[in-house]
Amino acid sequence: MKIILLGAPGAGKGTLAQNLKTDYGYAHISTGDILRENIAQKTKIGLQAKKLIEKGSLVPDEMIVKLLIEKINSLKTDDYIIDGFPRTLAQAKSLDKILKVDYVLSLKSSHEVVIDRLLNRLTCPNCKTITNRKWLKDDVCPKCHTKLDLRLDDNEEAIRKRLEIYDENFKTILDFYKKLNILYEIQADETPEKTYDLTKKIIRVKYDCQEK
Ligand code: AP5
Ligand code: MG
Repeated sequence: MKIILLGAPGAGKGTLAQNLKTDYGYAHISTGDILRENIAQKTKIGLQAKKLIEKGSLVPDEMIVKLLIEKINSLKTDDYIIDGFPRTLAQAKSLDKILKVDYVLSLKSSHEVVIDRLLNRLTCPNCKTITNRKWLKDDVCPKCHTKLDLRLDDNEEAIRKRLEIYDENFKTILDFYKKLNILYEIQADETPEKTYDLTKKIIRVKYDCQEK
């Protein structure tokens, strides 16, 4: 099973992927996480990516395609979720050459909602849990009790830029997957639980169809 998660910054791609990973055991490939690992390890790619990520720009297609392919090849499973890729039509075409995707789930959320979420997002540097300041009493991970971090691109200026880039590109990418008949749109303006329930209904519908 191969699932692509699309959606604006803050639409809940990472949160949904964590739920699917916990319940179904799918591997979770987040291109943003791969880049942030490179930044943390101060690799050559990390140094180049940091300058782009902190101002909300995309990294070059060739760089991210190469990193994604390396990650896919390193997995020991054929069941995985790709979160944050593709972000350009060129990336979608590159992926199409190497992979048959089962579902492309597009999370739909308004700018107002995602901006509020991103300005309050906290992530755990240890167990990678994604959470939100609004749900917590303190800035400590509810799962492993490590002090939670803010992301370097969760400030108003970078968020505005990230949304601008998303708005420029998403329609072409959705059209690409619509033609392949694997695109499913999910309303993601409500709670993480609601988004997850809607997702499970879509995945189940396809299972039911295959069984008949
Ligand atoms: P990336 O890390 O992918 O960031 P993004 O796309 O901006 O998306 P986010 O991770 O910010 O949001 P999300 O949808 O995962 O939401 P989350 O679940 O965390 O990429 C970062 C950067 O890397 C890019 O800007 C670019 O520079 C570079 N990059 C990455 N991939 C690239 C590519 N393919 N090509 C080129 N460059 C690339 O949730 C957000 C918050 O909302 C959290 O607080 C969460 O708890 C809360 N929340 C989640 N779901 C819900 C819900 N349903 N209801 C209420 N709250 C919710
Ligand atoms: Mg994410």
